[in-house]
Amino acid sequence: MNARVTIVDHPVVAAGLSRLRAKTTPPDLFRRRLQEIAIFLFIEASRSWETAAVEVETPLASCAGAVLAKPIVLVPILRAGLGMADGILRVAPDASIGHIGLYRDAETLRPVSYYDRLPVNVAAASVLLLDPMLATGHSACSAASILKAQGATQIQFLCVVACPPGVQQLQSEHADIPIITAAIDPELNGHGYIVPGLGDAGDRYFGTC
Ligand code: URA
Repeated sequence: MNARVTIVDHPVVAAGLSRLRAKTTPPDLFRRRLQEIAIFLFIEASRSWETAAVEVETPLASCAGAVLAKPIVLVPILRAGLGMADGILRVAPDASIGHIGLYRDAETLRPVSYYDRLPVNVAAASVLLLDPMLATGHSACSAASILKAQGATQIQFLCVVACPPGVQQLQSEHADIPIITAAIDPELNGHGYIVPGLGDAGDRYFGTC
């Protein structure tokens, strides 16, 4: 697999992902585990971010400190990406949130944008595009194009489960966007679902299945 794909190899992530995969896991646990895994993905994504030096006054003395050089913008692809944003906000509460809504056209099976609203600082930010499932890659590619059209230059794509066709599609259209995932599953079924995957992430997160 390409060097710009990082699989987060961590026992807590592996255990959480197994809970997500299990069909018996109820929505409350599914939510918690998805949010936790998103935090691990965020930690991996932010590992290489630049910081700027600042001086900090502790109650006892001054010392050298750091601030992130760029603001953080989280962009969940509606609707399952919202669950990842819920988790990451717990460790990056000052992040701004953009939203991108896409639906799949019944005839062309291609994503059509029905909503986007991005923060004004998106061009200057570290942008994390969030969708738990990188399946065909078409939604991820459309969302990345929307982000770039609005000026975003530093984009990383975070997902919980990817599969090879989606990875290849995103890499072929947006080779500059690193992919950070908890797992890469072998294949897509005829309905565009990742197998073994975890089912419909949005339905399971929002309890609509
Ligand atoms: N979206 C999902 O929620 N699950 C998949 O397996 C593929 C796309």
